[in-house]
Amino acid sequence: MDITNSTVFIPGATSGIGLGLAQRLQAAGSTVVIGGRRRALLDSLHDEYGFGTVELDVTDPASITAAAASVIESHPSLDTLVTMSGIMRAEDLRSSAHLDDALATIETNLLGTIRLIDAFLPHLLGRPASTIITVSSGLAYMPLAATPTYSATKAAVHSYTQSLRQQLAGSPVSVLELVPPAVATDLMGEGVDFGGMPLEDFLSEVVSLLEAGASPEILVQNVLPLRWSERDGTQQQLIGALASRGH
Ligand SMILES: NC(=O)c1ccc[n+]([C@@H]2O[C@H](COP(=O)([O-])OP(=O)(O)OC[C@H]3O[C@@H](n4cnc5c(N)ncnc54)[C@H](OP(=O)(O)O)[C@@H]3O)[C@@H](O)[C@H]2O)c1
Repeated sequence: MDITNSTVFIPGATSGIGLGLAQRLQAAGSTVVIGGRRRALLDSLHDEYGFGTVELDVTDPASITAAAASVIESHPSLDTLVTMSGIMRAEDLRSSAHLDDALATIETNLLGTIRLIDAFLPHLLGRPASTIITVSSGLAYMPLAATPTYSATKAAVHSYTQSLRQQLAGSPVSVLELVPPAVATDLMGEGVDFGGMPLEDFLSEVVSLLEAGASPEILVQNVLPLRWSERDGTQQQLIGALASRGH
């Protein structure tokens, strides 16, 4: 991906990593369209930064279809999709009350990713060169016990990304996976501190890796212990250590 000259759609960029990435890509020279459910935020971000905007709810297939049609019509040069939308919820598996959270997490993180890719792939296959960046997590590679369905959806996104990459080999579409470690955002609620690294530090590393052509996974330093925990034989120890920190 040429970050100086791409046309990028980031559903899930009204806050956090998506918004930060939108700002960095635009500053590097790309044209960026952001998406999310919060219309008022989309409007103020359009006014402040000049992003294109589209309201969408990735749990609603019709909303994804309409957003894809609108983005492709307004930006026919679109060549990059970043499937950023995500939610993360704590669940107590001893109580069936967790099931609603489990379903919402699967709808958003996994089905949302799958549906977004379905909606944009025909267009991206018609471009001379294009990129899909999925967003997993260090927790795809070793679960945080307090967020079981979240961790499972991210493991599924990793697996799905591998299959997508293989099916698209030889096509114009490159498939990357952004694997964030814990990053300080409002992912678990406004002001909830889960010990994430500073957002700007994370974004600077990501931009450097994109500039260097990192592929197929975008791995900042902080995520490496999680990414390779199974290979390194540290996985069970890390699962226990994170659980005992009360996360
Ligand atoms: N922060 C971390 O530590 C961390 C670590 C690993 C992976 N990640 C991943 O990074 C991504 C961004 O998270 P973040 O940390 O930046 O948290 P965030 O600030 O809460 O951002 C989440 C984004 O997803 C959007 N979103 C949520 N549900 C949606 C829906 N149904 N339809 C459309 N958009 C939806 C939100 O927009 P609206 O509310 O406006 O819809 C928001 O823009 C997520 O996929 C997350 O799993 C984060």
